[in-house]
Amino acid sequence: MTTWPQWLPIREDLQSLSPYGAPQIENVIHLNTNENPYSLPPEVAQAILHRVTEVVSSLNRYPDRDAVRLRTSLAEYVNSLSGTQFSSVNIWAANGSNEVLQTLLLACGGESSQALGFTPSYSVHPLIARITRTPWSEGFRGDSFELDVIDAIDQVRRKLPKIIFITTPNNPSGTVTKFADIEALAKVALENGALLVVDEAYQEFSEEPSAVRLLEKYPNIVITRTMSKAFAFAGARVGYLVARPEVINAMLIARLPYHLSTLTQAVAEVAIEHRELLQAEVRALVSERNRVAIELEKSGLTVLPSGANFLLFTGFSSTSEQLWRKFLDAGVLIRDVGLKGYLRVTIGTSEENDRFLSVLHQVK
Ligand SMILES: Cc1ncc(COP(=O)(O)O)c(C=O)c1O
Repeated sequence: MTTWPQWLPIREDLQSLSPYGAPQIENVIHLNTNENPYSLPPEVAQAILHRVTEVVSSLNRYPDRDAVRLRTSLAEYVNSLSGTQFSSVNIWAANGSNEVLQTLLLACGGESSQALGFTPSYSVHPLIARITRTPWSEGFRGDSFELDVIDAIDQVRRKLPKIIFITTPNNPSGTVTKFADIEALAKVALENGALLVVDEAYQEFSEEPSAVRLLEKYPNIVITRTMSKAFAFAGARVGYLVARPEVINAMLIARLPYHLSTLTQAVAEVAIEHRELLQAEVRALVSERNRVAIELEKSGLTVLPSGANFLLFTGFSSTSEQLWRKFLDAGVLIRDVGLKGYLRVTIGTSEENDRFLSVLHQVK
């Protein structure tokens, strides 16, 4: 634990925390943070460079504070996938969906609120709750980490949270919650005056329809998305949410002025224009995911059904930490997500996946 100097008035409730983050190690194969392994196609890289040269002379000015052009492009993208009719008033964008989530909790969380998430799930949700002083209530998934909606509704009715988090496909399990089950939760949330936050960071890798279509019927849903995964754009830091305009107005209150730089807005717009090229590998990643899952099963391991770009597996004889270390020693960095007996692997290029599988056969 860090020892803090007396002259630093750091909040008492943060003093015992360590900074969040997966290890960043050089010269290994990175299969630990669910990134897209494909770098930008040269055509998109060129278009981005061109756009940067256009905006660079305006960097003496603050950016468009409300990123209206980018939000309009994101609305068109969501509409093209889901047949919806959103416009910029339904979209909020920030530096990654983590910032989107934090701004949402700054606006809607706090000491008098309460958030509930169903674990195991994305560990940043309770962390953001803590940072924003939002009391966190831990809900549970079933043994196979699937969300049993009847049980989930029961947990909501007992705990009466103001904000409910669902991650689908779920990280770290990859399991998908059915559209109908999200709707059932949205209904109960509405009856209880709660907001349902659906974290769809991995939506493009899944066959289940997005919850954005529920917004017409349920004003209390917020869907968060990211360009970090399917768009292969993690380094640019762009995330967004889709919601009713009232939620966007709340985000405008809580956000920092000029939070999204001119460069970020410009490059994200170009990326969305070139989405077909950028997302060309999504199908390849899905078929690689299925191939790796079969290979893991063939070697006697159990793999959770995944709708994302990663797999959670179990059934090995050493501890998670020991096996994780053996992979690292062989130059493959995967993720120990803190679940006893499980490890998570991100799907890489087919060569990287082959390397992962061949190391697995040596070390398991
Ligand atoms: C479920 C989930 N939500 C949100 C994020 C954050 O993504 P971003 O890069 O947009 O901040 C991640 C990143 O891994 C994630 O797994």
